[in-house]
Amino acid sequence: MDWSPEVTERNPGDSAQRPVCIVGGGVIGLAIGWRLARKGAAVEVFDLSTAGRGASWAAAGMLAPLSEVGFEDEGFLSLGRESLRLYPQFLEELKEDAGVEVRLDTQGTLIIGLDRDDAERLRRLCEFREHLGLPVKWLSGTEAREIEPLVSPRTSSAIWIPDDHQVDNRALVEALKTALRKCGGTLHENRPVEAVLNEEGRVNGVKTEEGEIGAACVVIAAGCWSKQIGGIPKELLPPVRPVKGQIITLRQDKLYSLPHVIRAPDAYLVPKGDGRIILGASEEEMGFDTTITAGAVYRLLERGWWAVPSIYDLEIQEIVAGLRPGSRDHDPIVGKTTIEGLYYATGHYRHGILLTPATAFEVSDLILEGRSSGVFAPFGPTRFLPAGESAVGW
Ligand code: FAD
Ligand code: GLY
Repeated sequence: MDWSPEVTERNPGDSAQRPVCIVGGGVIGLAIGWRLARKGAAVEVFDLSTAGRGASWAAAGMLAPLSEVGFEDEGFLSLGRESLRLYPQFLEELKEDAGVEVRLDTQGTLIIGLDRDDAERLRRLCEFREHLGLPVKWLSGTEAREIEPLVSPRTSSAIWIPDDHQVDNRALVEALKTALRKCGGTLHENRPVEAVLNEEGRVNGVKTEEGEIGAACVVIAAGCWSKQIGGIPKELLPPVRPVKGQIITLRQDKLYSLPHVIRAPDAYLVPKGDGRIILGASEEEMGFDTTITAGAVYRLLERGWWAVPSIYDLEIQEIVAGLRPGSRDHDPIVGKTTIEGLYYATGHYRHGILLTPATAFEVSDLILEGRSSGVFAPFGPTRFLPAGESAVGW
């Protein structure tokens, strides 16, 4: 095995070069694959079904580090803001390679409260953000309705977050598939990876139903299924589980105009440029179940209607359930493992669309140049290892 990252950098066209194999063709696996391929690496991405149709398809596409930061999430906040900062460059380069534009929607986000209890909660959230020096603005109900006239007349207070953006996540995965292929990467759909192969303590390929494929390194980016890949010692598998999210697509008519993302208690509304409004989402611990249920849909419609009453007349276009990859501590698991040549890029939970650029830059730089930006330092795979555990004996 003579793989080294420098070999790929120096000889990007070397056809004898062993590929990087990526397990999982969601937004994360596709983005890493594309970044590697555009730098000349040989890349094979495997998906067990149609690539991009997992959580990445179900998502609402919010890029919301400021809205979603909780009181104990300051580590996530800097990572999320860094990834959002990288988005314009990421989308510009994607346009160059895919030949299609995926637009960054920068209309901003309004978090609204509908009663006194909400107002008290929002006030604390706003003060926390102000304390961190984040660009947020406290609004009265009247001021909130000036920004977004369609929010409920009951709106008692709001936080205006101009810097939380959104993207069309479905357009994003389609563009990533095109860019990956145009840059010379190979996408194998309907080809699940059964196991990671190893030789003398380092990965050297993957096993699929059709046979074995040699690899210089392997990236596990299989979302909530990442723990199911064979060939990795149980204690080293990423602790990721599915967190179910049911989400509704409404169709705006021509006269309807809701430009901003609205976040309300237990619901959010994300208007897309093509007339869809994404109303989400439930958060359920139901294993791999993706059944659409009356209770979750009822609750989403009710909470969405409380926030923006005029959605009452809109057509329901689609209801889907996606499975967020939630890690044990709900933070992403990105970086080198203790097994040589094996990388994890999983556990992105509620923020995988937001964290796509940072993850793709990080993992491709690690593989090609052995270089880390440091932004994922608190989120490495080894944080879950029992003290003293390593890949010894693998
Ligand atoms: P996935 O998109 O699930 O992709 C994993 C892929 O791996 C799948 O295509 C699967 O087929 C494949 N796979 C599995 N096993 C194997 C195998 N053995 N071999 C080969 N392939 C395999 N994030 C945001 O940033 N903003 C949002 O607004 C947002 N909203 C969300 C709303 C909902 C309802 C949900 C469910 C999620 C939302 N998320 C959001 C989270 C985001 O969607 C995820 O974090 C992100 O899509 C994870 O991407 P992924 O590529 O890791 O996983
Ligand atoms: N980030 C929104 C969701 O996961 O529902």
